[in-house]
Amino acid sequence: MALEELNNQIYVCRKCRLWQGAKHGVPGEGPINAKVMLVGQNPGAEEDETGRPFVGRAGKFLTKVLAENGITRDDVFITNIVKHVSPKNRKPFSDEVAACLPYLQMQISVIKPKIIVLLGASAKDTPRLEGIEYLEVIHPSAAMRFKNMEDTFTVQIAELAKIISKN
Ligand code: URA
Repeated sequence: MALEELNNQIYVCRKCRLWQGAKHGVPGEGPINAKVMLVGQNPGAEEDETGRPFVGRAGKFLTKVLAENGITRDDVFITNIVKHVSPKNRKPFSDEVAACLPYLQMQISVIKPKIIVLLGASAKDTPRLEGIEYLEVIHPSAAMRFKNMEDTFTVQIAELAKIISKN
């Protein structure tokens, strides 16, 4: 299936309750042949407003740390495990994650990334496939708030840059 067709399914998705409080489904963005995919939790308020992933405060922080390590957003595909905003930005429930996972599965099978970066604990449900290297890192919104986590996150993204250079 083409990515565009998948995006259209996500825009009108009603497989769980989250669409009811959302303005936009947020499929994700990036090149179809990206070597690297980043997976977050679910869109926040600004992402819901714009329909684009990681454009709010956490997204700007993530973009800055990536750029400091020579990784531009144009090179990576950024998405979330759940494609709609949640009420008061709560963690998605497990049935919401389960309902949404087939979209991520399809995105992985179309894009075929070599490396998948899991941003925070919620992304750990991402399907694990042979031949893909997985890197678990701190979620950028936690890294923004706590200095020790920022330091760890910075080291983790530097490690990502190293892995990319070897691929
Ligand atoms: N946090 C996420 O996990 N995803 C986004 O798209 C924005 C903030």
